[in-house]
Amino acid sequence: MPLTAYDLSGRTAFVTGAAGGIGRATSVLLAEAGATVHCADRDEPGLRETAALVAERGGTARLHPLDVTDRTALAAAVGSIAGPLHVMAAIAGIMHTSTVLETRDEDLDRVLAVNFKGVLYACQEGARSMIASGTRGSVVTMASGAMDSASAGLLCYSVAKAAVVQLTKTLATEVGRHGIRVNAIAPGWIRTPMTDRHEPATQEQAEAAMVRHSPLRRVGVPEDIAHAVLHLASDASSFTTGQILRPNGGVAMPW
Ligand code: NAI
Repeated sequence: MPLTAYDLSGRTAFVTGAAGGIGRATSVLLAEAGATVHCADRDEPGLRETAALVAERGGTARLHPLDVTDRTALAAAVGSIAGPLHVMAAIAGIMHTSTVLETRDEDLDRVLAVNFKGVLYACQEGARSMIASGTRGSVVTMASGAMDSASAGLLCYSVAKAAVVQLTKTLATEVGRHGIRVNAIAPGWIRTPMTDRHEPATQEQAEAAMVRHSPLRRVGVPEDIAHAVLHLASDASSFTTGQILRPNGGVAMPW
C-alpha cells in the first residue's frame, strides 16, 4: 500500500506510449498505486503485454490502440473514459538522428508530429477533460536531457523536446486556476527499446559514457522514470507546476 500522498486509488490515468519502456513501466506503477490506467500506443501487441503486467499486479488497464498524431483518435479515446480523468501522462515519442546538414523536411515533420504535436493533443484532450469534470488533475509530459545540451545528430529530437517544455510551462500558466498541474520530466539515458535500437557497439559506448559522467555510476531504467511520473501525478507534488524534473543520474545539473 503506497503512502497516502502517493495513493491513486479511485483515480483514472491515461498514458501514451504505454506499450514501450517508460510508458509501460509508468502504466504498471500507476496501476500498482491504485489507478485505473488507460493505455494508448500504436503497438497493439505491446499494449496487450502491458495489460498483462498490470493485471499480474492486480490492476486494471483499458487499451486504446492509436497513433498519437491522430488528434481525432486521441480525443475519442479520452472521451470514452467513464468518469473523471485525473492524470494524463504524454510519454509516446520516437528517436531520430541526422546531422543538421542532412536533415530533410520529412524527418523534421515526422519528429515534430509525434514528439511535439502528439504531446500537444494529449495535453489538450487531458486538460479539456479535467476542466469539464472539475477535476484538479495532473498532466505530465516527457521531455529529455537532450534539450539541455547540443548533441550531434539530435537536432529534430532536441528541438521537439524543447518545444514540449515550452508547451508544459505555457499550459501550466493557463490551467493552474482550475487546480490542474502540468510538469515535464527530462530523463537522462534510460535503457529501453528506444535506446536498445542503437547498434550494440554504439549502445555500449553510450552507456559507458553515461556511467562515467553520472555521480551515481549507472544508467537509468524505466522504473526510475515511472517513479518520477508517479510523484508528479500524485498529491505528493500538489504545489508543483510548470517545472522540469530531471531524473538523469546527475549527468547534467542545470540551474
Ligand atoms: P520506447 O521506444 O521504448 O517507447 C516509446 C513508445 O511510444 C513505444 O511503445 C511506441 O510504440 C510508442 N509510440 C511511438 N510513436 C507513437 C505514435 N505515433 N503513436 C502512438 N504511440 C507511439 O521509448 P522510451 O525510451 O520508453 O521513451 C519514452 C519517452 O521518453 C519518449 O518520449 C522519449 O523521447 C523519452 N525519453 C527517453 C529516454 C531514454 O533514454 N530512453 C531519455 C529521455 C527521454
